[in-house]
Amino acid sequence: MPKISIPELARKREAGEPIVMVTAYDFPGARWAERAGVDMVLVGDSGAQVVLGYDSTVPVTTDEMLVLARAVRRGTETAFLVCDVAFGTTETSDAQAVETAVRFVKEAGADAVKIEGGRAERLSRIRAIVAAGIPVVGHIGLTPQTATALGGFRAQGRTVASASRLVEEAIGIEAAGAFCIVVEAVPSEITEVLREALTIPIIGIGAGPTDGQVLVLHDLLGITEGHTAKFVKQFGTIGADAVAAITAYGEEVRSRAFPAEEHGYAGTPEALEAARQ
Ligand code: KIV
Ligand code: NA
Repeated sequence: MPKISIPELARKREAGEPIVMVTAYDFPGARWAERAGVDMVLVGDSGAQVVLGYDSTVPVTTDEMLVLARAVRRGTETAFLVCDVAFGTTETSDAQAVETAVRFVKEAGADAVKIEGGRAERLSRIRAIVAAGIPVVGHIGLTPQTATALGGFRAQGRTVASASRLVEEAIGIEAAGAFCIVVEAVPSEITEVLREALTIPIIGIGAGPTDGQVLVLHDLLGITEGHTAKFVKQFGTIGADAVAAITAYGEEVRSRAFPAEEHGYAGTPEALEAARQ
């Protein structure tokens, strides 16, 4: 299969072929996504929580994101690789945003970066990164990096002001040069309005059926412990499977059922003789 390109993603929107995106944070995750034939892999800053154990996406640094991104790059062949820029690494100026985006391309081989928000300063950042030759994915609706300012982790576009703001931001993001946009936690009727207002593909998460979908890998695999968002569908039980496998291993170690003879190496009589002296 040829590598997925931006024109191919645009064609999928035109043709009504849903775009499949999933997050990945390491080499095996990237391999699984690749073998499953996804179109886009996102090194999400959700990795701050699901693989690094932070309680939000806010603390993660570019250096940490780059470690994850490089591992994912090594495992990705045909999928289009998008990397999230971390909170605080684009906020200061357009120059800072370009510098951050360049690191993801140069040091991790990202195909594009994703940047949250659609207010005027954010549009300026998108224009600057695009002008530097780096493709940008927008992200509106529930934007976890600034969830506190949104009043917490809650659906967006449910008030008149919020719905109007979403449309304005989406149009601004497309005009700023983004080739794709993630819409998170928004009623599906609003997503449909956004879709009519835009020509670029919308990747939804908790936003109803649209041009494509994204889920956090650890949520869909059933690895995430405890609460997950309403929009998560669990397609596997990998967390429980992992605990069962490690428990079985522990039991066999304690009962001495493991290791068995076939897990060891045959010696030679001469070496044994020498070792005994
Ligand atoms: O960080 C992430 O995983 C994301 C997706 C949920 C869109 O931004
Ligand atoms: Na993110």
